[in-house]
Amino acid sequence: MTIYFPSQVVLEVTSACNLSCKGCAIHGPDRFVTRQTGPMLEKFWRTAIAEMGSWNRELNLTAHGGGEPLLHSRLKEILQFAKSFPKLQAGFLTNGMLLDMNWSEFAVSLGLDWIGFSIDGVSPETHRIVRKKSDLDLIEKHLLDLLSVRERAKAQKPFVTLNMVAYEEVANQKELFVKRWLNKVNNITISHYRNPPDSRRWPVVPTERKACFLLWSQMVIACDGRVGLCCEDFNIDFPLGRIGEKPLIEIWNGPEISKLRKMHEQGDFESHPMCRECDTWSDNIVHKTEEIQRIGCRLFHKTSQTEYKPL
Ligand SMILES: C[S@@+](CC[C@H](N)C(=O)[O-])C[C@H]1O[C@@H](n2cnc3c(N)ncnc32)[C@H](O)[C@@H]1O
Ligand code: SF4
Repeated sequence: MTIYFPSQVVLEVTSACNLSCKGCAIHGPDRFVTRQTGPMLEKFWRTAIAEMGSWNRELNLTAHGGGEPLLHSRLKEILQFAKSFPKLQAGFLTNGMLLDMNWSEFAVSLGLDWIGFSIDGVSPETHRIVRKKSDLDLIEKHLLDLLSVRERAKAQKPFVTLNMVAYEEVANQKELFVKRWLNKVNNITISHYRNPPDSRRWPVVPTERKACFLLWSQMVIACDGRVGLCCEDFNIDFPLGRIGEKPLIEIWNGPEISKLRKMHEQGDFESHPMCRECDTWSDNIVHKTEEIQRIGCRLFHKTSQTEYKPL
């Protein structure tokens, strides 16, 4: 029997947050996630990371889920532990509010692999509307500080990425945003806003459905130690097991997910209630590329987002 290993593990170190963004499934005004929120206990993160390290395989440990990772009081320890395993690459997406100079120095000296900032546009006023309780000036200062600490150390890492959600209040700032950051950071994506945050809400989806790449690549672990089906299982309605009950790799090769993989291979996308309503299966396909000379970049359009690269 083939044993599958994920190439990415989402470890939700905490589901708590200090902001309330417009589209956020857990903390936004239209939130619908009802599961418990809070920090992940040490017994879960230590067990999970030690097992991932023991696989001795290249793996991207994504230390955020539906919360703000910097709110976990032991995040530095968690990342240090992860980075003690040579094949684990680690990073996180953050709202940037708490990523101060001390954090930047830590991240650069640890050789953390990547940090993504969620920044929605260039105007502090609209930013405060779509990312309630945020302070764009402070977030930009934190981002620039991180870039300058990295440059001063002549380091390549962390790889710095930006993700902007094109909410209608900020959509007209896309070009300004890209122009402002394109030559400073490593990567920019502009994501479509999903409203309500269900899994079928994108403007262009390829017509021929394929087996979902996430079932073979992404393991998702919620802050309470449960393994969800994939990143679309926001509320962990389809838990595959819990850390500590058995090894993660057994959970991820257990009967439920194996059955679902087989269904996808056989072209049955309707029997599972979550897959039936989802378009995320297509998100690793670039369905259009274009060049915009005016802002000097090439665009790669995927289902949920567009990636911008300098020409
Ligand atoms: C849920 S957050 C968690 C990590 C961290 N708190 C942050 O904001 O980066 C992950 C990403 O999802 C984005 N996001 C939240 N709600 C969204 C929505 N309705 N549509 C598209 N992206 C959304 C956020 O802007 C952020 O980039
Ligand atoms: S900062 Fe992230 S987790 Fe917090 S409300 Fe915004 S999108 Fe949600």
